[in-house]
Amino acid sequence: MSASLPIVRTVADLRARVRAWRAEGLRIGFTPTMGALHEGHLSLVRLARTRADRVVASVFVNPTQFGPNEDFDAYPRDEAGDAALLAGAGCDLLYAPSTVEMYPAGAATTVTVAGVSEPLDGQARPGHFAGVATVVAKLLNQCAPDIAVFGEKDYQQLQVIRRLVADLDLPVEIVGGPTARADDGLALSSRNAYLSPAERAVAPRLNAALREVFEAVKAGADVATAEQQAVSSLVAAGFGPVDYVEVRRPGTLERLGPGPADGPLRVLGAARLGRTRLIDNVGD
Ligand code: PAF
Repeated sequence: MSASLPIVRTVADLRARVRAWRAEGLRIGFTPTMGALHEGHLSLVRLARTRADRVVASVFVNPTQFGPNEDFDAYPRDEAGDAALLAGAGCDLLYAPSTVEMYPAGAATTVTVAGVSEPLDGQARPGHFAGVATVVAKLLNQCAPDIAVFGEKDYQQLQVIRRLVADLDLPVEIVGGPTARADDGLALSSRNAYLSPAERAVAPRLNAALREVFEAVKAGADVATAEQQAVSSLVAAGFGPVDYVEVRRPGTLERLGPGPADGPLRVLGAARLGRTRLIDNVGD
């Protein structure tokens, strides 16, 4: 456990710390995570630091956003390592609640965000975004920050959270942080730890395929053809199943009409490589 980073585990203790900072007139930044932290998370903490006087990070592996056959039990957990990394990145407080603190007996409310949460991962992972929206609504209410930073790597999640905050009038500014990547283009993810060395060598192909779609469509290629070529190239490289490779409008994630596209675009993809599900996105 890091000697220097204070840890609170209850909503009451979190609120007391934040209230004391507010009484000093300080601005609060918040970076929610599920732990197993890497440079991507730390870049979000550093971004929060540039916009706030004090930064809170949460580590909570949220069971309600995992499907029954997903990796909740296997999800990597290392609180001591996370605390040390957070302290080094300029975080002031770690909030690490238990599952019972987050979901006390009798909890019966779920937040669902229609529209933007429905396609893509909403189809591939039924219930996932209701779990995310519910825990993020709770975390934002618990911490009551001025700003909260989420990674663009989970691009659809970021749009779901923006919609949630707008629709529920939550008094917080949502800030998107750029995706941190390895030198070969692979988006950093806690789940990359599951990849074997052979899979790790193939994994950057997902980012490359999405870039190829983006560039082809920008150059006037037919959207459906470019998407299908990307799926075929991923399968040929050893990915499978490929949940989706789709070109969408940024923000709303609306589908484009058939044929060539104009205007801003976001290409999103999700595919399994062995036992690891990878997601990524590229865009304007
Ligand atoms: O992106 C994540 O790590 C999680 O989905 C989040 C936003 C912390 C909610 O559990």
